[in-house]
Amino acid sequence: MTPATNGTTSTEPTVGSTQAAKHPVAVAFEKNSHWRRNLADLQPELFKKLGRGQSPEILWIGCADSRCPETTILGLQPGDIFCHRNIANILVPTDLNSLSVIQFAVEYLKVKHIIVCGHTSCGGIAAALGNKKLGLIDTWLMPLRHLRAQNAKMLDALPEKERGLKMVDLNVRRSVAVLMENPIVMDAMVERNLELHGVIYDVGTGELNELDIAEDEEIVEERKKAFKTEH
Ligand code: CO
Repeated sequence: MTPATNGTTSTEPTVGSTQAAKHPVAVAFEKNSHWRRNLADLQPELFKKLGRGQSPEILWIGCADSRCPETTILGLQPGDIFCHRNIANILVPTDLNSLSVIQFAVEYLKVKHIIVCGHTSCGGIAAALGNKKLGLIDTWLMPLRHLRAQNAKMLDALPEKERGLKMVDLNVRRSVAVLMENPIVMDAMVERNLELHGVIYDVGTGELNELDIAEDEEIVEERKKAFKTEH
C-alpha cells in the first residue's frame, strides 16, 4: 500500500486548522525513505547482506507496546534480532504463534540467546491487576490472573506502583519458566549452551535491567525429570 502523500485524506477533519496535519502513514513512508537512504550511505553493504539472508543471534520475546521496539531500544539494526511480540509478553505452551517463532529461531537460525522483556506501565499487567471486563483480551491475559491469584498476599501488601512492577517481574519469570519447559529450548540449552535472559525495560527512562534468573541445581534437575523427553 502506498498512501497519498498530499497530506490529507477525504475523511480527515480539517476543522480548526488552516493546514491539515499530514497523514501519519504518509509521514512514516517519508521517514522510511530518509532512513534507508541514510543507512545505505553509512553502510553500503548492509542491505545487500540482508537481502541474502539473516543470522540473528538473539530471539526477543517482548510486549507489543509501541514504546518497546526491540531493535530501536537496543540500538541495533535490521538483521540483529528475531522477534515475537504480543500483549504483555505472555508465553503459553500451547500458543502456535510463539511456539513456531521459538522453534524457527532455535532450531534453524540457531540463536544463542533468548531475551524475555517485560516493561514498566504495561497495559496488560494493569488490566490483569484490575477487574474490568475487556472482552477477548481477558482470555489472553488469563495467565496473568493466575499469577495474581498465586501471589495475592504478597501483591496486596505492596503500594500500587510497586505491585505493578512486581507483576511485570513475575510475568517475565513466568515466561522464562515456560521457555525452560519447551523441549526445543531444553535441548538447545544442553547441546549448545543456549542462554535465556529475563529483562525489564523502563519506558520512562529507556533503561534496560536484567533480572537474576539463576536457579538452584535441584530445581533444574526436577524440571528435567518432569519435562525432558527423548525418542
Ligand atoms: Co506491555
